[in-house]
Amino acid sequence: MATTNLHVGTAQSRLDGPAKVTGTAKYAAEFKAADLAYGVVVSSAITRGRISAIDAAAALAVPGVIQVFTHENRPRTAWLDYNYRDQVAPPGSPFRALHGPEISFGGQPVALVVAESFDLARHGASLIRVTYEEEVPNTDLAKNREAAYVPPKKRSGIKPPPDPRGDAEGALAAAPITLRHEYKQAVEHHNPMEPHATTVVWEGEGKLTIHDKIQGVNNTQGYVCSVFNLKPDDVRVISPYVGGAFGSGLRPQYQLFLAVSAALDLKRSVRVVLSRDQMFTLGYRPETIQTVALGADEDGRLQALLHEAVAGTSTFEDYQESVVNWSGLLYHCPNVTLGYKLAKLDTYTPADMRAPGAVTGVFALEVAMDELACATGIDPLELRLRNYAERDEGENKDFTSKALRACYAEGAARFGWARRTAEPRSMREGRELIGWGMATGVWEAFMMKSSARARLSIDGSLEVACSTADLGTGTYTILAQIGADALGVPIGRVRTQLGDTALPEAPLAGGSWTAASSGAAVELACRAVSEQLLAFARRIDESPLANADLAHVTFVDGEIRLASDPSVRVAVADAMHAGGVETVEATETAKPSLLTSLRYAAYTHSAVFAEVRIDEELGVVRVTRVVSAVAAGKILNLKTARSQILGGVVMGIGAALEEESMLDHNVGRFMNHNFGEYHVPVNADIHDIEVIFVDEHDDKVSPIGVKGLGEIGIVGTAAAIANAVHHATGKRIREIPITLDKII
Ligand code: MOS
Repeated sequence: MATTNLHVGTAQSRLDGPAKVTGTAKYAAEFKAADLAYGVVVSSAITRGRISAIDAAAALAVPGVIQVFTHENRPRTAWLDYNYRDQVAPPGSPFRALHGPEISFGGQPVALVVAESFDLARHGASLIRVTYEEEVPNTDLAKNREAAYVPPKKRSGIKPPPDPRGDAEGALAAAPITLRHEYKQAVEHHNPMEPHATTVVWEGEGKLTIHDKIQGVNNTQGYVCSVFNLKPDDVRVISPYVGGAFGSGLRPQYQLFLAVSAALDLKRSVRVVLSRDQMFTLGYRPETIQTVALGADEDGRLQALLHEAVAGTSTFEDYQESVVNWSGLLYHCPNVTLGYKLAKLDTYTPADMRAPGAVTGVFALEVAMDELACATGIDPLELRLRNYAERDEGENKDFTSKALRACYAEGAARFGWARRTAEPRSMREGRELIGWGMATGVWEAFMMKSSARARLSIDGSLEVACSTADLGTGTYTILAQIGADALGVPIGRVRTQLGDTALPEAPLAGGSWTAASSGAAVELACRAVSEQLLAFARRIDESPLANADLAHVTFVDGEIRLASDPSVRVAVADAMHAGGVETVEATETAKPSLLTSLRYAAYTHSAVFAEVRIDEELGVVRVTRVVSAVAAGKILNLKTARSQILGGVVMGIGAALEEESMLDHNVGRFMNHNFGEYHVPVNADIHDIEVIFVDEHDDKVSPIGVKGLGEIGIVGTAAAIANAVHHATGKRIREIPITLDKII
């Protein structure tokens, strides 16, 4: 089947945009239910120790307070499957809210107060008296470095660092130019606009409909069924919209457990919404301390590369991400040693946060490369070209495709990189120092197994559907574009349905794999629909398509046409008449190619160029220009794709200059748990951002040529900015965020 490209590859506005801006799009905490009760979580006041007593009498005495759940009276239905681990759980024992009196992280939920209104529940929560036996918390990563360990069990889907190649220490000792420095990534919290929230609708007889803030409804359903011993048929999860997540919604969070256990116990609908400060009691990008050592010859050719990282995790799970692996594949280097360790802290388990691991590791590598450029007197871009990796030397595999050279060239041209003067502090305007820096970005290109359904009606409307979530990324729109082109339907007649466990199962929306995975599934389902339609068309008496096969027809404007002679055609409606049907429907499953994953390394790449202007006296940094040139295979929608990169760059600016969750190690709590003190970029922080998509053909990652865009925009951005800060000021800052105190 030849598909048209009327919609795929063009700029299309979000189909879900009007619903979002008019407020008709419903989020997890907005669904209505009759007789709804409201739960408010009481958070632990200590970080480590145990609860010696909870006094709920004052709360229970308030008229309208229905029940207070604690570890002492929690419903016994829970945790039948003691070791249930959700789809992306790292190795270990997942946190079980209200399971016992032990406290293992700051802000751990210790009670749920359920009342007739939110205000009553909140008031009741303020009356709960908890006494603790407090122990000294251990939350300082630097103090736990020596005790760091190689995780004994690998996290599914996360590759451990590849084996060493060559003799990195030996080559480093012999190299004429060497450097070895330490780099730090601060803790960051995701801070989506929509907090974690669950509305459990009690449908009677143990049946539940759950609206949960989650990046994939099947993960919520699997969790609830396993933990509460319910059947999938009795638990439907519906979450059509997600108000941002960035990875925070990959795992079911404790408000889901609390809301479901209260609903089952009270046989009543219950809603639990976490407050903004409670969002800081959940997963986060972990603090990571890294050492990078580079050895090169005088021409800047890498001879040795060592990259070691120590990251924090909780006491109960070994959260892992790929921090150092990028250093094994981004550059040609014969001698490489990579290491990754964890340190147990009295914190909640870290969570995947947009480009987990890559933000952290690529920052360190790309600042180190800039330091090597300075040490050798070679232009930073030229240095990267000299060390360009033609294959993944870490895994010893060819790339499925790699248009990084084009990213460097097109990005540099657009940015005007050739006009940069090499000397730090050599560019200024008035009282502002100007710095230009660049970095490489890289992220994995995944495809996962996904199912989808397509249903074409005789009136010419098409529905495409699967259970994945649209996190604000454009999934509704790109799936409609794929369906529209496959079956010759105008995009205005396509409806996408997502976020419902009643729909064909798709993976969690994460890892930048949704377009490749669910997009391929939609295309397969549409192809199956077109096969049925062509079979019907051939049945028509004296059908002009009697001898046509699928490979030689196109679906355009509601007609099946011979590709070689479009005047030979059958209307889709006539084909349906011939088949005696009013709709044609198919559900198909797309699977990644095993051969590709065995033989090839699949990555998206980018080149990021940044300009900073720094007030010399005040140290205030403005990121005035960023050019991000991206190679990610086929671009389905120029508008939503650009928005993904813009959002990634904005988050990269946040990581570079602002975002940091600060622990007070005396009490083991994040102290800046609000938007007043946890700074994310606001409009005034954002200036020019230009996005370039370079041509890249990839026929291996996914059948639709897509490599994914959700994460690549953030990777490398912080390094480009840090390198620009060095160029502007002469000061090398190896810790992000680069706050004022580090510049002055
Ligand atoms: Mo992403 S951190 O896989 O939601």
